[in-house]
Amino acid sequence: MKKVIVIGATGTIGKAVVAALDSSYEVIQATRNSAEYPIDISDEASIKALYEKVGSFDALIVTAGAVHFGLLKEMTEADWQIGLQNKLMGQVNLVTHALDYINPKGSFTLTSGILNTDPILYGVQAAMINSAVEGFVTGAAIELENNVRINCVSPTVLSESMDKYEAYFKGYLPRDAKDVAKAYIKSVEGLQTGKVYKVQ
Ligand SMILES: NC(=O)c1ccc[n+]([C@@H]2O[C@H](COP(=O)([O-])OP(=O)(O)OC[C@H]3O[C@@H](n4cnc5c(N)ncnc54)[C@H](OP(=O)(O)O)[C@@H]3O)[C@@H](O)[C@H]2O)c1
Repeated sequence: MKKVIVIGATGTIGKAVVAALDSSYEVIQATRNSAEYPIDISDEASIKALYEKVGSFDALIVTAGAVHFGLLKEMTEADWQIGLQNKLMGQVNLVTHALDYINPKGSFTLTSGILNTDPILYGVQAAMINSAVEGFVTGAAIELENNVRINCVSPTVLSESMDKYEAYFKGYLPRDAKDVAKAYIKSVEGLQTGKVYKVQ
């Protein structure tokens, strides 16, 4: 049975991804609050501890990653560090520390988002981080060995998140989590690498 780790498995996207993975997978569901597989992606020691516990695996899907929303002119160094340490370096460290654990022909699937190409007010940090995540995927894809692949999913705002975000995404067409989840499945089960799958 193939082993898939879903980081952020209890979130809006993560829940839909877990539901979309069929019964051929053993799904390791990891979050900060998980009793069995706790992880904080902003903490390298916690990432290493998860891999030591899980051992070898076939796919990593990351549906977690925080950024700070705020105005450019008010953004402090501490605010910038939130996205850098969490959504960006969290995902980068999840990949680099997994290189000794991922099986040949395995895959990494990371998450960016629409705001680097279709920005909103307060979204400057999200825009920056999303582009950096996508750049990492492009660069890492040509270096991964043993036919290991890496892709990224870039969703628009989710229908399920519109109650929270509607005021900031006026005129955007939201997508349902179950449709966004399909892009993660495509990344895990397909053969492509270095791609950004836009669900927008
Ligand atoms: N929702 C949207 O409309 C949307 C659109 C485009 C892109 N995205 C991106 O998609 C990703 C997930 O968004 P979401 O809306 O699904 O998030 P969410 O509903 O807030 O869920 C986040 C998930 O990640 C876990 N998590 C949070 N911080 C973590 C940490 N430091 N380490 C490990 N796990 C952590 C949470 O569980 P615990 O609290 O137990 O840790 C939860 O399972 C984010 O990067 C977001 O920018 C979201």
